[in-house]
Amino acid sequence: MTNAAFMLPDSLMDPDFAFDGAVELQAARPAALIAPLSSAFDLAESQSPGHGVRVAHVALAVAETLGLKNADRRTVFYASLLHDSGVAVAELPPEVDPNGGHAAAGGWVAARLGLDERIQNTILASHERWDGAGRPQGTAGGEIPLEALIVNAAHWAIEIAENPESPLKARASLLRVHPRDIAPMVGSEVAEATTDALHGDSMWTGLWDNDLAALLAGGVSGDGRASVKNVERIAAALGDVTDASVREAGRSARVADLAMQLARRMGIAKSERRAIGVAGRLLDIGQMGIPRFITEKPSILSLEEMELMRHHPGMAARILEATPGMDEISMWVSAHHERPDGRGYPEMLQGYEIPLAARILAVADSYWALRADRPHREAFSHAEAREILEAGADEHYDADVVMMLETSLGAAAEAAG
Ligand SMILES: [Fe+2]
Ligand SMILES: [Fe+2]
Repeated sequence: MTNAAFMLPDSLMDPDFAFDGAVELQAARPAALIAPLSSAFDLAESQSPGHGVRVAHVALAVAETLGLKNADRRTVFYASLLHDSGVAVAELPPEVDPNGGHAAAGGWVAARLGLDERIQNTILASHERWDGAGRPQGTAGGEIPLEALIVNAAHWAIEIAENPESPLKARASLLRVHPRDIAPMVGSEVAEATTDALHGDSMWTGLWDNDLAALLAGGVSGDGRASVKNVERIAAALGDVTDASVREAGRSARVADLAMQLARRMGIAKSERRAIGVAGRLLDIGQMGIPRFITEKPSILSLEEMELMRHHPGMAARILEATPGMDEISMWVSAHHERPDGRGYPEMLQGYEIPLAARILAVADSYWALRADRPHREAFSHAEAREILEAGADEHYDADVVMMLETSLGAAAEAAG
């Protein structure tokens, strides 16, 4: 039952009514966004958040030792951040070579993020080895782009640095490495530059700096101007990668569109609706950190599996908190599985403790989840999905938001063509 007695004040019924101090997206450069957001791919790779950024830190130090130009350093930076982003992709888009492995999928992620072909090709080649024993092509020596060898060397160092009983021990063992030990992997030129770079003190103090992502991003050139469009574009790309990771193409765009329409009906100002759209795209980036056997399980989840699944809003929120201009979006995303009756997760917030934007996102998210096939059930029809949401109004969902569903869906469908 919906709460029929509840009426919104007139001002809230006016779709063009603007609140004071509404949330607004902040202009940003791609590097400032992609560096912290790359932690979502680290989750997919079962690495700790910041792994890609740390690879970039070492790789840039090696690039500097080798005297690389700005354009080449930019390639090294982005290829490092995205070196294993392809691991997140479960369902390869049709345009990706199915024999290219996760490196090819990583190239697609870079393309989707608007990064140029040199960066895509560097990611593709970042698991090749100087001696020809790498993958996926088995190319050797000078055939491999220099930037790819640098990323490979940096990745090797970071795997050791991140996987120790103690960071000091890891540092000591890395300092003992002789260039000839890694030359078969990356060639002697990059091997020497890598051992040189590992002997620098700033390398080690910087490695565990909380601001490392921002610091590295600030040094990247060729990114163009900061803009709000960048934020929307990059959120859309990450939404597509998330969809590919949970095998549900188009989902994040549908959720974002419906959430923006619901927000319009609820009288939320346009600038804030754009922020809600970005949140809709990023809602489930935390699911990249949930093991596939859970997201793809053909039956209902066990309690333990459910418990793991409940971590995904928090994981996303931690990544978004570290992304400039995403404070509110991070809060909304972390609350998208809360319920007005306090039985949601992760914080068991109640009623108005849940931000309105999060209540809107929850309805949009649930509607499209119901409309999709799941391993253990078929998709519900529109009428069935609406009935389920209406039955859950007040307890599970914000009743006022559910009330807006019918008209919003029409508008979202119209906006989508
Ligand atoms: Fe990695
Ligand atoms: Fe979710």
